[in-house]
Amino acid sequence: MRETKNELQVKPLGWWIRSHYCDELGVEDVDQQVCLMGWVQYRRDHGGLIFIDLRDRKGLTQVVFTPEFNAQALEEAHGLRAEFVLAVKGVVRERPGDMVNPNLKTGEIEVAVTEFRLLNRAKTPPFIIEDRVDAAESLRLKYRYLDLRRPFMSENIVFRSRAVQAVREFLHENEFIEIETPILTKSTPEGARDFLVPSRLNQGQFYALPQSPQLFKQLLMCSGLDRYYQVVKCFRDEDLRSDRQPEFTQVDIEMSFADEEAVMSMAEKMISELFKKTLDVYMETPFTRISYAQAVAEYGLDRPDIRFDLKLRDVTHIVKGSEFRLFAEADLIKALVVPGGSILSRKDIDDFTDFVKIYGARGLAWIKIKENEWQSPIAKFLSELERSTLSVELDLQVGDIVFFQAGKPDMVNTALGSLRVKLGERFDLIPKDVFAPVWVTDFPLLEWDEEEKRWVARHHPFTSPRDGHFELLETDPGQALARAYDLVLNGNEIGGGSIRIHNSLEQQKMFEALGIIESEAKSKFGFLLQALEYGAPPHGGIAFGLDRLIMLMTKTASIRDVIAFPKTQKAACVMTEAPSGVSPRQLRELGLKLREKPAEG
Ligand code: AMO
Repeated sequence: MRETKNELQVKPLGWWIRSHYCDELGVEDVDQQVCLMGWVQYRRDHGGLIFIDLRDRKGLTQVVFTPEFNAQALEEAHGLRAEFVLAVKGVVRERPGDMVNPNLKTGEIEVAVTEFRLLNRAKTPPFIIEDRVDAAESLRLKYRYLDLRRPFMSENIVFRSRAVQAVREFLHENEFIEIETPILTKSTPEGARDFLVPSRLNQGQFYALPQSPQLFKQLLMCSGLDRYYQVVKCFRDEDLRSDRQPEFTQVDIEMSFADEEAVMSMAEKMISELFKKTLDVYMETPFTRISYAQAVAEYGLDRPDIRFDLKLRDVTHIVKGSEFRLFAEADLIKALVVPGGSILSRKDIDDFTDFVKIYGARGLAWIKIKENEWQSPIAKFLSELERSTLSVELDLQVGDIVFFQAGKPDMVNTALGSLRVKLGERFDLIPKDVFAPVWVTDFPLLEWDEEEKRWVARHHPFTSPRDGHFELLETDPGQALARAYDLVLNGNEIGGGSIRIHNSLEQQKMFEALGIIESEAKSKFGFLLQALEYGAPPHGGIAFGLDRLIMLMTKTASIRDVIAFPKTQKAACVMTEAPSGVSPRQLRELGLKLREKPAEG
């Protein structure tokens, strides 16, 4: 640091009061006395002048130290470094024409410093505090408080706060009551693994952190509280992806005396108002609806991205009898035609083949439609009739590529549905600025769990079957449909809910269908079964994944970028180093003993 006559001292804030944020001043403020506070973004030393870009959470203002305003301050300013914390008082000046920065909101002015206070020094940060940072994410997470100083991150966090505010306003205006529910609770059956908390006062017993407040919100309906909501942390110990966190936030809602229409129309009004208020994006209501069966048939996935058209086609009836063994043995064969896709190289196709293998596919069959031939490893197995039927039914044109997937329906749909999204990106078919919400309805009530060899609830066991479908639980469980709905936005499930069973006997019948024996049902959900016996109103609700919603609204690629202090893929916090070991004494108090060697797997 350059030696100065007047050594730079840290001073207390004293009675100084900030007059403006660093994004607020413009030419209309010229000659005003102002007081700004923030961090040194850059310091440019021009000998007789020093320029500092002062940053706070809203923006940047250039402040200039000049000899004619305060020579001593100019001298001291030589000691300022990046991320030092300053308070400056000064006068707003118009910048000379050639100094105007059109890229900066305050680029037409600067503040000539009359007085300043160094409020704190800073070590050199491990990465530069600006949006173009190329630091590894683990470093950003370790120094999250610095990462959050970057405009990109702080804007996301501020946006999130505005969005929650808009949601709360909507819900309050619509008679919803915000009610908190316990965090130390009992296992809830949302299908993921629970996080457990050992009890000191009841040794050998554990609380589970809620995977959602599902049971409590239903109990609140039994209490007559009628319209509930909560912005609430939920905990699920599951494999993490870019849109999943072990603790995440739901906007959780429940309504009494409501059917599907009531819940869905309230929820879409909330979402469209949220987009209007925070992004000025207009969403037409009612939102598009498609059934689960149609979503899977056309898009392969139950979270269809309807921003682009490319649809899957069932071609089982055309090629099932072909000489190609994979087709002949398959339960389902589907095709995906990509217009103009024959420009794909062998390498591209190999990459897509590797991609579908993630979903259990053995390979990826394809045909390029050329002027005089079908270029393809499988074309030779197809008869003239099969070729001409494919041509007509799929409306094949020269230049197209057709991908095929054959096998068990679940695999075929997921693999080809996921490939559809990948191809949409590859061929730039997805409009970036469009928000396309779609309700997916008529979900199957149950799904077969191959590992446990039993039916499990697709949503959760409190979801009501469609009218007349209760009987199917005994005769044909796979055919029973649920009164459930998901809201999907641009191919992401942002919310899901259902109309609940509100009759104790029906709830018990549902547990039976799921192979939950009476004693287990009583010990796990006895309180709910009881509550349903005391005049439970018909009710239903929905929960939105707030983090996911904000991720989509801010167009960020990772859920971690919209959470102030997120966890890594390994569910760890690299800043606090949670999870971490505990002392033998803490374990003793809880009546716990660790195994010598952590269990494998
Ligand atoms: P569900 O399990 O569908 O429903 O969850 C609702 C929404 O929460 C979001 N979500 C997640 N977001 C981030 N990380 C996760 N690990 C994660 N898991 C789920 C999704 C999802 O749509 N109690 C029911 C709701 C109800 O029936 O009212 C429930 O929790 O966006």
